[in-house]
Amino acid sequence: MSASLQNQHVLILGGTSGIGLATAKAAFEDGAKVTITGRSVERLATARSVLGQSVNAVQLDASDEEKTRDLINGMASLDHLFITVGALVLDAKLAPTKAAMQPALDMRFWSAVYAAKYAAPKMHSGSSITFMSGTAGRRPLPGAAVATASCGAVDALARALVLDLAPIRVNTISPGYVDTPLFDGLLGENREAVLANAAASLPVKRIGRPEDIADAVLFLMKNGYVNGINLAVDGGGLLV
Ligand SMILES: NC(=O)c1ccc[n+]([C@@H]2O[C@H](COP(=O)([O-])OP(=O)(O)OC[C@H]3O[C@@H](n4cnc5c(N)ncnc54)[C@H](OP(=O)(O)O)[C@@H]3O)[C@@H](O)[C@H]2O)c1
Repeated sequence: MSASLQNQHVLILGGTSGIGLATAKAAFEDGAKVTITGRSVERLATARSVLGQSVNAVQLDASDEEKTRDLINGMASLDHLFITVGALVLDAKLAPTKAAMQPALDMRFWSAVYAAKYAAPKMHSGSSITFMSGTAGRRPLPGAAVATASCGAVDALARALVLDLAPIRVNTISPGYVDTPLFDGLLGENREAVLANAAASLPVKRIGRPEDIADAVLFLMKNGYVNGINLAVDGGGLLV
């Protein structure tokens, strides 16, 4: 395992909040040069204030292939890539239209495809790509079938790319419940009650912190023999 990410360039697509921001902070503290992206200018500014002005913070919608290509092609070097982007669409009994359900697959899966496609030619034998899945890929989230399928899709994509992009390592991370701003919009005023309930149901009796996942992502970046795994970081949630 390499001692640190010192002077390595880490790109985090979806790095201005929650798990991505915590990973950017951990990589930065480990000595990496860090580039983060996000769509919102406000979130980019907040992330800059957390990480410091030396972070490269770029406005980018990761589902835009051309802009992703241009960003990555403009980089002098790239050692590690983490794509956190995803979307949760509720689609009980597949009732919504295709157009309404499509972002649940497109955001996670195609953003991962575009990023890997343009990053790989910049990478080398010590490099890694980490995709964002979720424990929902193994234990489906009721009422979110397409979003659940997107978790399985990136898992299969990662294992296929281990072969096609070798020697670049490709892994997937599957968080359980993690306390991030994602839940602000999803749960509204029920947020605290739902998360407390989730915590009580877990063997560790708490839900995850973004730093728990960031720590695991850095492990996937730095351990040169971990390849093609889907690492669940869920407090034991898949066992109960
Ligand atoms: N929190 C959990 O419990 C949990 C559990 C399992 C899996 N996950 C997955 O983990 C990922 C991150 O979740 P989080 O909890 O850290 O959420 P978060 O705090 O809302 O952060 C999401 C980040 O992704 C960025 N983003 C979203 N769509 C983007 C796009 N199209 N292009 C570029 N950046 C984009 C956001 O910035 P902008 O909005 O400004 O673009 C933000 O920086 C998601 O894929 C989620 O499904 C989360």
